[in-house]
Amino acid sequence: MRVLVFGAGAIGSLFGGLLSRAHEVTLVGRPPHLDAIRANGLRIESDAESFLVRPETAARVPSGSFDLAAIAVKTYDLHDACAALAASGASFRWILCLQNGIGNEEILRAHFPDETIVRGLVYNGVSIESPGRIVWFGHGSTWIGRPLVPAQDGEADLEIEDLASALSAGGFPARRAEEIGREIWKKLAVNAAINPLGAITGLPNGALVRSSFLLSLLRAAVRETEEVARAEAGYAIDMVERTMEIALVTGRNRNSMLLDLEAGRPTEIEFLSGAIVRFARRRDLAVPVTRTLHALVRGKEEALRVRSADRSVASRAVRPLAEDNRRTSERERSEEENNHSTTEPLS
Ligand code: PAF
Repeated sequence: MRVLVFGAGAIGSLFGGLLSRAHEVTLVGRPPHLDAIRANGLRIESDAESFLVRPETAARVPSGSFDLAAIAVKTYDLHDACAALAASGASFRWILCLQNGIGNEEILRAHFPDETIVRGLVYNGVSIESPGRIVWFGHGSTWIGRPLVPAQDGEADLEIEDLASALSAGGFPARRAEEIGREIWKKLAVNAAINPLGAITGLPNGALVRSSFLLSLLRAAVRETEEVARAEAGYAIDMVERTMEIALVTGRNRNSMLLDLEAGRPTEIEFLSGAIVRFARRRDLAVPVTRTLHALVRGKEEALRVRSADRSVASRAVRPLAEDNRRTSERERSEEENNHSTTEPLS
């Protein structure tokens, strides 16, 4: 397969890096991570192994035709990513969307035909440790399916079966979901519990289930999403145990929302807890824990914004002072030189 990965963050790098062992993969991303991959390859480390792969890299979408474009940017950048792919002139058989969150396919459908759009629900913990090096904690299977193509009664989507086999053969285990809508809600339940709790406390996933205080919040958040899933989409999902299991399997991972906050980036909170709060309001359901987690993460985002604005005001205030200092010392130096030249004896 010819594969394009748009967004070489942690998940995009893992996806592209693993597939590059069996397929022709181009990673589109930014320096310094991409420069390091171009120069030295991409190192993937886990408890079990450490290996180097060499996918192609590009600063923008190359022309030509690709079997698959995997979009691995943050959910809030999805619209721009789709616009860039659609305007690139390249053609794609499949558009695979790897983000967390609900409703992402509605953004994709403004740019690509419904039947080409595939959602991928990924349960891997991965982070970029340094440019060109990622660490992979907890390997999970990825569920894929077409959210915008109505399921045919009892019929498997054979094309999606083939895509799952091609991804698995390439080293990225994937399975066709019988009902991708249900899988989207299940993943939402996981992310709307683990991600804000980790982001607020600064703890890795495993620690969230080892603290009885945090565990009770995690369970309550999952139950609230289960209730909203039933009311909003008619799905009965049972995700408390599974979420705890995922937190343990990815135990050493610091989740993507925590990493976003630490890097001063916006988070995906509006596509996770924010979406649940909005659905709950519409259905007249109380989701007190989710509402609180949502508000706390928004508060953290605001605090970071204020702090970085303060820093830039402070640096603007310091700059003229520094400039004054430089000018004063230049003036003093030149006066000193003049004094020297007048006091020194002429030869
Ligand atoms: O967003 C994340 O970090 C991941 O979806 C998961 C599975 C919670 C692992 O950290």
